[in-house]
Amino acid sequence: MPLPDSSRIQFTSDLRICRVLNGMWQVSGGHGAIDRERALQSMFDYLDTGFTTWDLADHYGPAEDFIGQFRRELVATRGVDSLSAVQAFTKWVPRPGTVTRRLVDDSVEVSLRRMNVDRLDLLQFHWWDYSDPNYLDALTYLAQLQDEGKIAHIGLTNFDTEHLKRVVDHGIKVVSNQVQYSLIDRRPEVQMVQFCQELGIQLLTYGTLGGGLLSEKYLGQPQPIGSTLNTASLSKYAQMVESWGGWALFQELLVALKSISERHGVSIANVAVRYILDRPTVAGVIIGARLGISDHREDNVLVFGLALDEQDREQIEAVLRDSRDLYQFIGDCGDEYRR
Ligand SMILES: NC(=O)c1ccc[n+]([C@@H]2O[C@H](COP(=O)([O-])OP(=O)(O)OC[C@H]3O[C@@H](n4cnc5c(N)ncnc54)[C@H](OP(=O)(O)O)[C@@H]3O)[C@@H](O)[C@H]2O)c1
Repeated sequence: MPLPDSSRIQFTSDLRICRVLNGMWQVSGGHGAIDRERALQSMFDYLDTGFTTWDLADHYGPAEDFIGQFRRELVATRGVDSLSAVQAFTKWVPRPGTVTRRLVDDSVEVSLRRMNVDRLDLLQFHWWDYSDPNYLDALTYLAQLQDEGKIAHIGLTNFDTEHLKRVVDHGIKVVSNQVQYSLIDRRPEVQMVQFCQELGIQLLTYGTLGGGLLSEKYLGQPQPIGSTLNTASLSKYAQMVESWGGWALFQELLVALKSISERHGVSIANVAVRYILDRPTVAGVIIGARLGISDHREDNVLVFGLALDEQDREQIEAVLRDSRDLYQFIGDCGDEYRR
């Protein structure tokens, strides 16, 4: 079933992407054993459904190699032109410390080679420690590599508003920031969204399904603990739910989402994703894909036919009003990585 036109957005002048991106953290370990052949077959299935855009990172286990192999198999079976349908957004997450041009060159070369591309569509840069100002050098070198044609676009991930501003003021052309953004975690709405709107920077979001917690599977269920949180993603977002307001309030949210989803004939996950896709400056929602293990493509397609109305949004707000202000509790986007 081809996805509708509304599933796509002109992300940059040269990149038209699917607004639901396939997240590859889930192949990096901690989410079940990945079988390479099944994963590769699954990547073809995603492409054929219209989910053409991948989010990955240098440290997501074999993710960059999977993109490389996927591209080789695409050329072998469908011809070189078929490559133009695929977009792959990787990340560079260097260790804190001095960053030399050589280090940046070498790191980008590794990603280019692994992904089997001449140029990275988008390189999203992460930095662990703002007290170490070397990130501005790193970004300057990345911009040089962009001028040399090795990188098409520079993005950031988990930057807070203050440091995103510093990067922009340093003269770096940033097209996107990848942040946690969901019905549970609405910290981007405090400062980030408005700043990005003013500068034309787009958000790519993760955690939007809370690792799967925002689905029928957890409606009416006791709080998952211990080994029932069987992916790294579930553990991560179970903690967010705890900070946000706890399991009882989360159940109230699921009940509200269920009634909205029934009105529209869709799933809870569809409502959770649509809500974020409708927020200003959000270019896309990244949904984690456990390639070859689970597959929610058919359901996620329905996001694009869903239009939430005022009544839906008010019903959601009525629950969210009782939640804790995570901006006060944790800080701005990405601060949870820097405590
Ligand atoms: N920049 C960063 O720091 C950062 C951090 C985290 C993630 N990310 C990116 O974001 C991606 C998303 O990962 P995430 O950890 O945030 O996970 P997520 O997208 O919130 O959750 C993914 C899980 O949701 C479930 N799911 C998907 N569609 C569903 C549907 N229609 N109905 C019910 N359940 C559904 C699946 O669970 P089952 O497989 O169990 O069925 C899937 O594994 C990552 O792969 C990565 O690319 C980036």
